[in-house]
Amino acid sequence: MAGLSSTVLLGLGLVMLMVLTPLVSCECFPAIFNFGDSTSDSGGIHATFPRLTPSEFKPYGDTYPGQPWNKYSDGRLLIDFISQGLGLKYLTSAMQPVDSEYSQGANFATAGGTVMPITYMSPFPLPVQYLQYLRFQQEVIALRSDRSTPAKMLARIPTIDAFSKGLYTIALGGNDFTFGYTKGMTIPEVQDYLPVVADGLIDAVKLLYDAGGRYFIVWDIEPHGCLPYMLTFAHHTPEELDEQGCIISFNEAAKSFNVMLKAKIADARKELKGISIHMLSTYDIKTDLSNNLTANGFKFNLKACCGVPSEFNYHLDVNCGKSRTIKGVTYTAEKCDDPNAYTVWDGVHNTEAANRYVAKMLFSGKYFDEPFPELTEQCNLKPLD
Ligand SMILES: *[C@@H]1O[C@H](CO)[C@@H](O)[C@H](O)[C@H]1NC(C)=O
Repeated sequence: MAGLSSTVLLGLGLVMLMVLTPLVSCECFPAIFNFGDSTSDSGGIHATFPRLTPSEFKPYGDTYPGQPWNKYSDGRLLIDFISQGLGLKYLTSAMQPVDSEYSQGANFATAGGTVMPITYMSPFPLPVQYLQYLRFQQEVIALRSDRSTPAKMLARIPTIDAFSKGLYTIALGGNDFTFGYTKGMTIPEVQDYLPVVADGLIDAVKLLYDAGGRYFIVWDIEPHGCLPYMLTFAHHTPEELDEQGCIISFNEAAKSFNVMLKAKIADARKELKGISIHMLSTYDIKTDLSNNLTANGFKFNLKACCGVPSEFNYHLDVNCGKSRTIKGVTYTAEKCDDPNAYTVWDGVHNTEAANRYVAKMLFSGKYFDEPFPELTEQCNLKPLD
């Protein structure tokens, strides 16, 4: 009798657990589908062009996980902290040929990617990343519709539901600016084509919405006039710098792009029924941080941690981790002693410490153009340590 009742109780307990589990664990996003450039690449460019890209060599990855892992930082990227906060696994690149784990989404980002359909530093602009996503989705649907698909394989791909319940993140556009600047275009010449860039981001959102996506975060352009790369690349006089030491004209171009993108996102929000779309202002996050560096544990904002010693610790021809002799002089780009004191890692990309800070600001909800309660309130957010 006692045995029977405890079995019944156990059975009841299991049923209750099964009913309760979805509520307790996560009414939250089951997957992330990310589109981006080097700021969110988790091995895409390495998988497609192995041995040719800096992030597969030391000291990339030194802080975390302790060795290179094909990401452009000393540690985790913003997208990694987003995964961590949501209690999801770090995203695997959709280009990863061996040992791929896509049960909680996939990463279509590749370093050098642009929004415009051009081959600048890499041949994977946003329209190509979208097509790769579409193929991925079709293959998942085909595998899930085929009764002979092994359970082991099903465990490594998303559910079909994940395509509508997942979070779509788009972090692109910075390279569309530098594309023009490195070709010698003036800021007004670059600004002439920026509407095409903003429209390209919106077009991708619409295509992903048509493919089932409903939850979106689109990044704006950060104040890139503060980057060691831009400060080194663009000759400037002291009058052309703001009180932070950033190049005003580049930041103004980024700002006006962001205003335009925000308006287009507001239009898309009206047009696409049931969409939950949010622009993340990395511009404001970075500006607020640079106004409040030391309170957040940082010392340097305009100097790269890993680079050739100089005003901005950056050399245009010597990447972090490399050594090069130019006209008889040998330059070596080495890691600084304390990456956590720097916001910029290699002159272009954030340190892990800066990425963690940006992720915290993202989850605070304060830097979205519209409230995002599905993310900031309904998820059981995990710590970002
Ligand atoms: C500066 O940063 C600290 C630590 O994050 C925060 O508590 C404070 O409110 C910030 N101050 C301003 C003016 O943003």
